[in-house]
Amino acid sequence: METLTRADLIAEIDRLRRERNAVILAHNYQIPEIQDLADFVGDSLGLSQAAARTTADIIVFCGVHFMAETAAILCPDKKVLIPDPEAGCSLAATITAEQLRAWKAEHPGAVVVAYVNTTAEVKAEADYCCTSSNAVKVINSIPPDKEVLFLPDFFLGSYLERVTGRKLHVWLGECHVHAGIRPADILTKLEAHPDAEFLIHPECGCVTSCMYYVADGTIPAENTHILSTEGMVRRARQSTAQKFIVATEVGVLHRMRKDNPNKVFIPASEDAVCHYMKKITLEKLYRSLRDLVHEVRVDPEIAARARLAIERMLSLA
Ligand code: 13P
Ligand code: SF4
Repeated sequence: METLTRADLIAEIDRLRRERNAVILAHNYQIPEIQDLADFVGDSLGLSQAAARTTADIIVFCGVHFMAETAAILCPDKKVLIPDPEAGCSLAATITAEQLRAWKAEHPGAVVVAYVNTTAEVKAEADYCCTSSNAVKVINSIPPDKEVLFLPDFFLGSYLERVTGRKLHVWLGECHVHAGIRPADILTKLEAHPDAEFLIHPECGCVTSCMYYVADGTIPAENTHILSTEGMVRRARQSTAQKFIVATEVGVLHRMRKDNPNKVFIPASEDAVCHYMKKITLEKLYRSLRDLVHEVRVDPEIAARARLAIERMLSLA
């Protein structure tokens, strides 16, 4: 394969996206080079909305596989490409459609809410999809007398139980990156930076403890915000605070620093790196646009059922 310089790669990506009428969507955890050239950067909800409204013929999805699948479900007439099909998600891998069917059989009549970090087959078994941006809204829209099965993230599920005051059946899945952010990481960082505002993703292993710390006064409630990645980016822009401790995958710090050059952003854990998200590189993006690989296809019958759950979510957003 020919070796292109970084500048050549960017120029070629630019040329090919125009030539092919392609749009490049990138998640907030992507490497800085990908974020900087994407047409849209956002969280799972924002990316689904961007996919749903694009007029491009081709969507190149710089993110993980379930996100590209969601775009393919919402845009059956478009070609959806992922630059590396190995970009998976440890959280989505914690439940299969077969396991979900068995769980549903134990709770007949229960409403199933599937976090967006799931395969298309699992979404096809769900009544509602949700993301970290709208999970509270989705749970609150379900009649209170209904039993709810929430999957697959245990920490997000526990957070939802606390915020909505509703008992949920929660699947015991976790994301290895967020589960690794422990309460001790938070307390150490807060002690070192008592003036910082604290932004936490609800998938974090520290989220439940942090809610208790807020309740018992260990962490100041007014400085603590549990948000999706896009919510964090927005908060960083709008807040008057000068320093932030950020508990999520470190990729999100790029946009925060770019948008707010005079503010300080400190990762809660420097080890919070999603190697699946980092599989997407400029070289792979270039090859994806050049050779139109790797196409993400979803079986039409599965897609039709999964689309209902995703559209129910989008109509609430
Ligand atoms: P957001 O929707 O908040 O960007 O989260 C997606 C994700 O995969 C978190 O790990
Ligand atoms: Fe999946 Fe976790 Fe990576 Fe998000 S950070 S894509 S939940 S493995």
